[in-house]
Amino acid sequence: SLRGPGQRAFQTAAKTRIPDFAFAFDIDGVLLRASKPLPGAADSLALLKEQGIPFILLTNGGGKHETARVAEISEKLNVPLDASHIVQSHSPFAELVKGPDEASALENKCVLVAGGDGDGCRRVAEQYGFRNVVTPGDIFMANPSIWPFSKNFSEYYKTFARPLPKPLDPTDPAKGLKIDAIFVFNDPRDWGLDTQVIMDILLSRQGLVGTLSEKNGQTNLPNHGYQQDGQPHLYFSNPDLFWAAAYPLPRIGQGGFREALEGVWAATTGGPSKGIELQKTVIGKPYQRTYEFAELQMLRNRSKVFGSIADQTPLQQVYMVGDNPESDIRGANSYRSPHGSSWKSILVRTGVYPGGEPAYVPTTIADNVQKGVHWALQNSN
Ligand code: G3P
Ligand code: MG
Repeated sequence: SLRGPGQRAFQTAAKTRIPDFAFAFDIDGVLLRASKPLPGAADSLALLKEQGIPFILLTNGGGKHETARVAEISEKLNVPLDASHIVQSHSPFAELVKGPDEASALENKCVLVAGGDGDGCRRVAEQYGFRNVVTPGDIFMANPSIWPFSKNFSEYYKTFARPLPKPLDPTDPAKGLKIDAIFVFNDPRDWGLDTQVIMDILLSRQGLVGTLSEKNGQTNLPNHGYQQDGQPHLYFSNPDLFWAAAYPLPRIGQGGFREALEGVWAATTGGPSKGIELQKTVIGKPYQRTYEFAELQMLRNRSKVFGSIADQTPLQQVYMVGDNPESDIRGANSYRSPHGSSWKSILVRTGVYPGGEPAYVPTTIADNVQKGVHWALQNSN
C-alpha cells in the first residue's frame, strides 16, 4: 500500500530517532572464549546493528593494533566493525605520545615495551607514534648475560629483536642505553627476562641500563633514592589477576605478572613496609580512566553516525556486559561519567565468574551475552 506523506514523514522521523542508550561489551568470556565465538554473540551484535543501537568492545586484552584485532573479531562474529568500535587495554597509552605538554611527550623518548607475542606490542606502540621503542628481547640479544635463563629462547628472540639505539655499556653508563618510560602492553611471555630488565631499569640511575641509583637511604627522599624525579615511570595496561581462556579454570593475567614484580621489588628494596612503594600507573578495567576513554569513543562514534543531532539526544544509559566481577562489573558500577550517562552492569556466566555471590554485585546476571542483551532491551525505555 502507498504510504501517505505523513507516514513517510513519521517513518523518516522514526528512522532518525537516536537511541539514548548503548552497550559496552567485554570480549574474552563474553563474545569470544579462546578466540572462538560464544553462543549468541554474533546474533546479539547483528541485532544491535540492525536496530541502530551503538556498542563498543571494551577489553583488557591487546597485543595487536586496534585495526588488526577488530578485523579478526569482525570476521569471527560476522559483524562490520572498525578500529573506532574497540578499546583495548593499551589504547589509552596512545595519548602519552604527545602527552599533555611538550615536556611530558614520550614521542621521541626511548621507551621499553614489554609483553605480547614477538614484537607485536612494539609495532602497536610505533603505530601509536612512539618513535624509539625497545623490547626486553632486544636487550637480551644485545647482551644475553643480562638474564642467564633465556638462552633457550634465543631462536625466538632472533626473529624480531632489533639492534639497540644505544649500546649496553655499564662501564660508561653516560653512553649506555637510557630508558625513559617502561610499558607493559600485554601479558609477558618470558616473565623472568621481563622482570629482570624492568627491575634493572627501576633500580638504575635515571634509566641508564647497567647502573644503580645512588640508593642513598635518605628516608626524607621519596623511595629512598629509588624512582626519584627523572626516573622512568612504569605503566601497566591491564590489572586482571585472572581471565577466561581455553582452559576451564581462569588463567593468571597481566595482574599476576605485576604482583610477581611487586614481590621482587619488595624483597629487593624493602618495599611498602619500608615506605618504598613501587610507583606505577595501572590502567584498564575497572579504572575510571579506561571507562572515560571508552565513553568518549562511543560519543565520537554516535556523532559520526547521527551527526550534530546526536547532541540533542544525549547518551543516558550504557549497559556493560562482562564476565569478570573484578574488572567489568566493578568498573561499570563505580564509573562516574563526566557526560551524564549512567552505567548498568550485566554479568554473564560464560567466563571467569564461577557462580555464587560475586565480589562486585551486577545489575543483573545472565547466562550468556544474548540473554544479557535481551534483558537490557526489555529494560531500556
Ligand atoms: O588479557 C586479556 C584478559 O586480561 C581479559 O580480557 O576481554 O576479558 O577484558 P577481557
Ligand atoms: Mg572478560
